[in-house]
Amino acid sequence: MNHLGTKKLVLLVGAFFLFSFLCTSAAFAKKVVIGFVQITPEGIWRTANTESVQNAAKEAGYELILKIGSMNYSSASAKDTLQTQILGMKEFIAKRVDVIAFTPSQIDGWEDVLKEAKAAGIPVINIDRAVNISDRSLLVTHLGSDMIEEGRRAGRWLVNYLKKTGAMDKKIRIVQLEGVKGSTPAIHRAQGFAEIIKDYPNLQIVQSKPADLTHSTGQEVMTEFLNTENGNIDVVFSHNDEMALGAIEAIKKYGKKPGKDIIIIGVDAVKKALEAIVAGEMNATIECNPLLGPQLMAAVKDLQAGKEIPKRIVTKEEDFDQTNAAQALPSRMY
Ligand code: AHR
Repeated sequence: MNHLGTKKLVLLVGAFFLFSFLCTSAAFAKKVVIGFVQITPEGIWRTANTESVQNAAKEAGYELILKIGSMNYSSASAKDTLQTQILGMKEFIAKRVDVIAFTPSQIDGWEDVLKEAKAAGIPVINIDRAVNISDRSLLVTHLGSDMIEEGRRAGRWLVNYLKKTGAMDKKIRIVQLEGVKGSTPAIHRAQGFAEIIKDYPNLQIVQSKPADLTHSTGQEVMTEFLNTENGNIDVVFSHNDEMALGAIEAIKKYGKKPGKDIIIIGVDAVKKALEAIVAGEMNATIECNPLLGPQLMAAVKDLQAGKEIPKRIVTKEEDFDQTNAAQALPSRMY
């Protein structure tokens, strides 16, 4: 080989190594794509949850495609139903995303689409609300709160409070503001609460109705309860804080003192609920942590690395009342 030929060969080999290096370097590595099927935002909690997932994905360097039902997140008309959420998931399957994450609007009806994802080899992570499925192998994991336990915690808080305040010998008339019909928070929180109060026959649920987890419907349904019960209500158990905050307004309009004439227990522990507790207008809130983004991304990272992931990851949560709400307020982010 002459001098020119050797030079060409050296250049060629150099170019090959440079190309291989670039292909394996971060600049050329394919971004992990996560398809996330979320539900329609009902209030502060959902916004905090969505932002937590978005921020954590950005920090981890993953691409996140966010859908409400089957619509893109930015669409003003984006609404979830079980059917549109399933459509959204099918779109992610067709797109061959690397991982699908989803929060179900309804607890039932997921088995078939999850089988499709499994057949396509796409791992699925269930976050926040649990689903009813018979084959748990269809999910990599379920990451989120134990909502039956949240209901139990609300029941235990009430029983302890009534014992402490010497009101346990009286008949206690409870109204329940339920979450969306057929949804996990509505079913599981009602179940856990009922499990605890059934041992105390003087505690009776006199009215229970879905109020859709929103502030305005919470206020509406509470007004209806106050009217039908002639204001004769001792306790409100609300499946979330948004509805509890709406109920507070209804109680004030009815001429009663929330937190004093009527005991109010919510779920979520959002900042506004902690403020209402400090102001003496609400009595307790059972924390349900929306900040699931970092744990979700850690699970995706483990998945990519081929590590074993526990089938259930339960988030750590606290209960707040007059004893600790003020202390928690300054650091509450949502
Ligand atoms: O799934 C979590 C529940 O959904 C939160 O309690 C609630 O506020 C949200 O609507």
